[in-house]
Amino acid sequence: MKKRNNHIKRLTAYCFVVAAFISGALAQSRISPVIPMPQSIQPREGVFVLSDQTPVYSDPISKGTAVRYFLTELLKHKGLALSRNASSSLPAVKFILQSEKRSKDALYQLDIRPEGIQVKASTEEGLFAGSVSVLQIVRNTALKDKKLELACYAISDAPFYNWRGLMLDESRHFFGKEKVKDILDWMAFYKLNKFHWHLTDQPGWRLEIKGYPKLNLIGGIGNYSDPLAPAKYYTQDDINEIVAYAAARFIQVIPEVDMPGHATAANKAYPEFSGGGNEKYPEFTFNPGKEATFQYLNNILKEVNVLFPSGMIHIGADEVHFGNDNWNKDPAVQALMKDKQLKDLKEVENYFVHRIADSIVKMGAEVLAWDEVVGSSLPINKTTVFWWRHDKRAELMKAFNKGFKTVLCPRLPLYFDFVQDSTQKIGRKWAGNFVPIKSVYEFPDKEILEHPKSKQLVRGIQANIWTESVSTEQHLDYMLFPRITALAESAWTNPLKKNYSDFELRLKRHLRLFAESGLYYFDPFEPGKYKEFNGPVQRKNMMPDTDELTRQERQIK
Ligand code: ACM
Repeated sequence: MKKRNNHIKRLTAYCFVVAAFISGALAQSRISPVIPMPQSIQPREGVFVLSDQTPVYSDPISKGTAVRYFLTELLKHKGLALSRNASSSLPAVKFILQSEKRSKDALYQLDIRPEGIQVKASTEEGLFAGSVSVLQIVRNTALKDKKLELACYAISDAPFYNWRGLMLDESRHFFGKEKVKDILDWMAFYKLNKFHWHLTDQPGWRLEIKGYPKLNLIGGIGNYSDPLAPAKYYTQDDINEIVAYAAARFIQVIPEVDMPGHATAANKAYPEFSGGGNEKYPEFTFNPGKEATFQYLNNILKEVNVLFPSGMIHIGADEVHFGNDNWNKDPAVQALMKDKQLKDLKEVENYFVHRIADSIVKMGAEVLAWDEVVGSSLPINKTTVFWWRHDKRAELMKAFNKGFKTVLCPRLPLYFDFVQDSTQKIGRKWAGNFVPIKSVYEFPDKEILEHPKSKQLVRGIQANIWTESVSTEQHLDYMLFPRITALAESAWTNPLKKNYSDFELRLKRHLRLFAESGLYYFDPFEPGKYKEFNGPVQRKNMMPDTDELTRQERQIK
């Protein structure tokens, strides 16, 4: 009898070992649902059961932004209303602000165990990033009987780049406050932290400036599809609301006021400051020959700097040569050239940009500009150059050599108004090339990563959506999703940890979230699933291939 009992005991012990081994192995092989992939993520055994009854503890020394966001999102997406509890005993979801940094590499540490969840960080931003990782696991878990059985993990995480940006052009087409908030929500969900807002350009000026009300009232009329569309713009109250909304998600908002080119809408409102243009780009520039122009622009920039607390102003400074021909004839510009001994229009452009940059620096802000400024003498330590001309890699190398901080956003693969599949027709291509999600994932390449200046000078990466060919919210979603996920992982995850096949597995789960949220997204696994576009009919000559056109135009010139 004793022998038999021993045998049963041994068998039972053996079964426990096998079961533990299998569950351990299953945990190890479990696909993490988190995008971008954290620096380190270890699956653990077991589940944590989250329900309405689970208390949430927020460290009293924390401002509570992360916990507020966590509770709001949990209610919004899962209908669970958790309450705060002053006691930190488990089981609970605990947010702990460590007074000193325990691990020099981690922005946050997240521990999900069957006994509870702990997010630990030494900064509010870290707590927020940790809460986002929990929410990604939450949203990828089905609700059963008003409970979530969350898989357990130990995560330690930090971003590769500090600048993880997205630019939206609302001059060509205006989408409005609710859509912008929606985009900010998704940016936060993917740990993107810079919203670059292209608010002024040829078709429309979208920003209320109290000192110059015609800018928005007249300059706000029209868009790329319809030059007579009623004025659309953001009031200063709207801007305050958006900036606060973004700040609650640890996103900085960076305004772009494009100059001295792309100034057509402003010039419609205040023609006295126009430097003219040419037949193709009428009234394209501001007038650098008039002192009054600098007074006017400085007054605008002062208002902008107060409105946007990021302390950064993007001045555009791109493509000035598209429409500065009139400077050759304008008496004020000609007098300036003589007076300052500027030998050509590029020197006039540099003079203009330099003066504007000086004013911005005096206001205590940083100057951001597209890569055309690389040849200028802007203050190196106060300027960030946005490398966008993928076909001019030499400009990036020049920026590195001169010591400019840079944000990488080359058209290929980071312009999201480029199509993402060979079958798509609405959007841009460059000599037949476009922007599949894999190309976003694989950026930056080795040459950039291994450049000796890269570590010191690259602030990060950013995707830009220009909206000549994007006129509806659905089409905007179609261009943004799912590429935003690859952007996030390229910006956050250490390149040595990136793995496209693993990303694809996680992406499949995130496509389900897009569907649940009612987004009109592109499915790279089933390219024909959704039509390319189902919004209102587009204007017939909506440029399918802008850069081809531009190059042809240049040849004609
Ligand atoms: C740009 O695409 N003109 C910056």
